[in-house]
Amino acid sequence: MAFATTKHLKLRALRDSDHELFLTELNDQRVMRTAFPGYIVPQGDKGVKENSEKFFGSALLMVVVEVKREFAGLRKWDEEEERKEGEEKKPADWDRELFAGFSALHVQFPKNREATFGLSILAQWWGNGFATEVTDWVVQHAFEQLNLHRISLGYFASNAAAKRVYEKCGFIHEGLKRQTFWLDGGWVDEGIMGILDEDYWARKKQLTNKE
Ligand SMILES: CC(C)(COP(=O)(O)OP(=O)(O)OC[C@H]1O[C@@H](n2cnc3c(N)ncnc32)[C@H](O)[C@@H]1OP(=O)(O)O)[C@@H](O)C(=O)NCCC(=O)NCCS
Repeated sequence: MAFATTKHLKLRALRDSDHELFLTELNDQRVMRTAFPGYIVPQGDKGVKENSEKFFGSALLMVVVEVKREFAGLRKWDEEEERKEGEEKKPADWDRELFAGFSALHVQFPKNREATFGLSILAQWWGNGFATEVTDWVVQHAFEQLNLHRISLGYFASNAAAKRVYEKCGFIHEGLKRQTFWLDGGWVDEGIMGILDEDYWARKKQLTNKE
């Protein structure tokens, strides 16, 4: 069952059966090269299980992103992907086909009500506005339901799509950490962005007045 829905997406809790899907995502260099600041190497079953349990288990909020069935046609397919059609499609095939990633908020020091935002969308679904939909929902939920004061994030400064998504969702540029990440044989800065509860409410008022 979905915890929440947006225009194209279902946002739901983690299930044991998601492990295989994360294994695929964490072995996709297109996604991991700008989502993960550590070594980009093949990730085995055991390591992925341990790391994802640690990462997701320590999250304040963790949602799996699943595309609504009626939008399955927006998916791009890689050549080697197995694609089942019609009657031969079982629930597990639908799960695999519609899985689109995850988003999480982590809080280090509850006193400060500050969370760190993380997001990863499967390459097959890029360019459909899904990252924007998920980020908008998480930001709204964080301030309206979880009573956070601030959401912070860092991104590879060369990741123009991520930067654009966060700007669209009301995050403010707060600085650049120089030469933080090693990528493609060179150093890349880390862009730092944040949104405060007061930014969120001011923006919401402005958007409501425009309607
Ligand atoms: C970055 C990422 C989240 C974007 O996901 P997405 O679902 O394709 O994003 P959306 O479709 O909601 O929005 C992308 C925006 O960036 C824009 N964009 C895409 N590529 C761009 C580029 N090279 N330069 C400038 N803008 C770009 C799109 O046009 C769109 O903006 P628009 O709506 O104004 O046209 C996705 O590529 C991803 O998960 N990448 C791997 C992991 C990662 O980098 N996560 C973020 C870690 S900080």
